[in-house]
Amino acid sequence: MNAPIKLLVVDDVEPNLTAVGALLARPGVMLLTASSGAQALELLLEHDVALALIDVQMPGMNGFELAELMRGSERTRAIPLIFLTAAARDQAYTFRGYEAGAVDFLFKPFDGQVLVNKVNVFVELYQQKRQLSAQLDELKRSLHLNELFTAVLGHDLRTPLSVVMNGAMLLPMMTDHPKVAITAQRIQSSAKRMAQMVDQLLDLARIRSGAMRPELAEADFGALCRVLADEFSTPDQPSRISVATSGDLVGVCDSGMLSQVLSNLMGNALTHGEPASPVRVTVDGNDPEAITVSVANRGGIDAQLLGSVFEPYKRGPSRKSGQGLGLGLYTARMFIVAHGGDITAASDQEGGTVFTFTTPRRAVSEPRP
Ligand SMILES: Nc1ncnc2c1ncn2[C@@H]1O[C@H](COP(=O)(O)OP(=O)(O)O)[C@@H](O)[C@H]1O
Ligand SMILES: [Mg+2]
Repeated sequence: MNAPIKLLVVDDVEPNLTAVGALLARPGVMLLTASSGAQALELLLEHDVALALIDVQMPGMNGFELAELMRGSERTRAIPLIFLTAAARDQAYTFRGYEAGAVDFLFKPFDGQVLVNKVNVFVELYQQKRQLSAQLDELKRSLHLNELFTAVLGHDLRTPLSVVMNGAMLLPMMTDHPKVAITAQRIQSSAKRMAQMVDQLLDLARIRSGAMRPELAEADFGALCRVLADEFSTPDQPSRISVATSGDLVGVCDSGMLSQVLSNLMGNALTHGEPASPVRVTVDGNDPEAITVSVANRGGIDAQLLGSVFEPYKRGPSRKSGQGLGLGLYTARMFIVAHGGDITAASDQEGGTVFTFTTPRRAVSEPRP
């Protein structure tokens, strides 16, 4: 981070090099001097330069020719240039290559202070750029570690968790003690909740890693909704979710992703909606181009949360909200967007809450190259 900033000065007249060098010398700045274009190119092969000050009139390769060669190479094309020239102003514009990086002119004889001021601006910009790129590297590194952590954690938590779940299922079969059955039930429901959180963390890792291409196949959206709704029923309690359908329900989707979305929305409606009230799922296949699914429940979301409810880690204030990670709706939105669709939330304070998503019925064709 504290490496010196390198400035390249190119001039065929030795005293000019010395004079410019004296003006620009200061701690933290390293001056590289070249008396010809060829020598400058050699230095550029070896050094990362923040700024080049180039005399235009030189024997052999002139300043513009040198600059054009610099613009032609990936490594040096963005280096800002200040041309030092004794030529008339209009001749200065014969240089081609303005678009690649900053270009400035100083007409001889120039004021030393003007040169110093101009150079300072570029040095400052370069420092900022270097700082930003170091910060970006650091952020990328920590993001990568974070994702790795989430993925490893998710995978490694699943196995012991399934052992806990199976054990809790078997326990009541081994004894008639009523308290054991109750405790086993609690262990099971907690383990199930934890398994859902692990799934959400894995989804998050999948989203963040960018590895999220839906594998599209034809599916019946109505059937998918019914299967998911049934998963919320328990032996002693039928599901509170009803499913109503209309129109043609067959469309393409990644059924794994869509199931995750439906499970998140139905789970939310049951957990965060009014207790014991019905949850209504509607699948609308009347549009030939799209399929729309909505999940409605009684109980509102306050206006402030509603605006940011699809952002990660956003949760409501209630006790039940504290039990989730606040990732369900974020994941749902990312999955729907990956399908080329859209999801919205609406809530009126007395009535209730409706989440609605729409996905294209057919695969959206790849954009033409
Ligand atoms: N159907 C719903 N009815 C009422 N509130 C909801 C509903 N769905 C989501 N919410 C609110 O939005 C928050 C975010 O939901 P979600 O992203 O699924 O996270 P989590 O369920 O883990 O809290 C919830 O904590 C809850 O406050
Ligand atoms: Mg949720």
